[in-house]
Amino acid sequence: MSDEAEGGWEWSAEEIRRVGYRTVDMIADYLASLPQRPAFRPVPPDLAAEFLRGTPPPETGKEAGAVLDEFAEVVAPYPFGQGHPRYWGFVNPPPTVIGVFAEALAAAMNSSCGGGNHAAYYVERQVVEWFRQLVGFPSGSMGLLVSGGSVATLTALAVARHVKAGVDVRAEGVQRCDGRLVVYMGQEGHSCIRKAVELLGLGRDAIRTIPVDEHYRMVVTELESALRRDRDEGLRPIAVAASAGTVNTGAIDPLREIAAVCREHDVWLHVDGSYGGPAILTRRYRAELEAIALADSLALDPHKWLYVPAEAGLALVRDGEALRDTFSLVPPYIRSAGNPTGVYGLPWFSEYGVQQTRGFRALKVWMALKHHGLSGYARAIEHDLALADRLARLVRESESLELMGPPSLSIVCFRYAPPALRADGDRLDALNKALLERIQLGGEAFLSSTVMGGRFVLRACVVNPRSKESDIDLFVGLVERLGAELLRPAGGGPG
Ligand SMILES: Cc1ncc(COP(=O)(O)O)c(C=O)c1O
Repeated sequence: MSDEAEGGWEWSAEEIRRVGYRTVDMIADYLASLPQRPAFRPVPPDLAAEFLRGTPPPETGKEAGAVLDEFAEVVAPYPFGQGHPRYWGFVNPPPTVIGVFAEALAAAMNSSCGGGNHAAYYVERQVVEWFRQLVGFPSGSMGLLVSGGSVATLTALAVARHVKAGVDVRAEGVQRCDGRLVVYMGQEGHSCIRKAVELLGLGRDAIRTIPVDEHYRMVVTELESALRRDRDEGLRPIAVAASAGTVNTGAIDPLREIAAVCREHDVWLHVDGSYGGPAILTRRYRAELEAIALADSLALDPHKWLYVPAEAGLALVRDGEALRDTFSLVPPYIRSAGNPTGVYGLPWFSEYGVQQTRGFRALKVWMALKHHGLSGYARAIEHDLALADRLARLVRESESLELMGPPSLSIVCFRYAPPALRADGDRLDALNKALLERIQLGGEAFLSSTVMGGRFVLRACVVNPRSKESDIDLFVGLVERLGAELLRPAGGGPG
């Protein structure tokens, strides 16, 4: 019996090839067959129950092929929809294929990217540098790859707290600050900002939620008033977290004006560009998003609009030394003289963030950027924008659909709202909730929802270069048909 049958440790090159080629076949079949498969179908209840049954961990190993069989049977058939050409839920793209392979190569190297004089370290430094140039941060900036926008935001706001608290937060926590610390975000800011503020020990009450205008953008005069009011009351404003693409509607806060206010009030500006940041590559959004360069810190997720397989988020901080001061705590066993050509090399990433052992996330970002190039990315993002425009246009033209607010970036919010029902908000809410579930469970498309102006709406976020115009057209017809079916009384007579 081969060692592998027992879950062996020393595979021959032949065994690796055999299992590897089969895995590649599975990847190819999986990705190629997605368009023909349901976008989503729930895990069958008996299978879900089996997962949750509390079975003990496997006592003995089995042959790798049998493990792959099991994956093919109980995992691969039940994705949440990501990768399908009519998946437009949340902010999840299909993975760029080179990123899929990069994951395997990174795992093969199993580099520990806390730091050290090895290639993976330099790959990440180069990736960070590319993003620095892309968004126009100055040369003293520093950043690192993290799991996603949430941890990037936590990392950035930790630096803001460190710099702006007025005391040595690392020594004293937030207990002895001169005035309570306050953070500002737009009403439409992502929940990860709140989570970060809570985790940083400032407390939920330290958040000022600034109203938004009819385009869901933070109202700068309201921000200014809130800052003044808090200062007058002896509080200590430390940071504003603005959005370069909100998750609900894709709204971009007026970054230039907000940056000016932050400068005037000596407050840190964090920009959440987790979703919208990459749109800086497009003609339509370049000028607006160039204002990101005015921020003190940025979150931008390669695993969103750069189509890199999850997880890959970037935290970038204008003052690289401040980032290091916030996190650096070098244990004696890896302290080095800082010799760039020595074994431990340049300052470790672990001095710039929370993690010590860090995966080789950078490889998939590096390979994807090399493979597609900025021009390839610009084209893909512009393709998504064009499809979102098409969807918005078809919604406007439809008798029974209603566009909910101006689309921004690649998000389109709308609802099924036949003219006769338009005045009945509660009925429309219930109808659209039922409709969303029908769409999601039907398997022909997947989208999510949000609430706008207190009303339940359907939300499509197109970050999907696999989507075609015909997918959008088919989808609009589907929504109209399913909506009409829901209105028809049981029994099938005319509604
Ligand atoms: C605008 C925005 N910010 C932050 C996040 C959080 O990012 P992550 O889920 O990668 O932690 C998201 C997630 O969708 C987002 O859309």
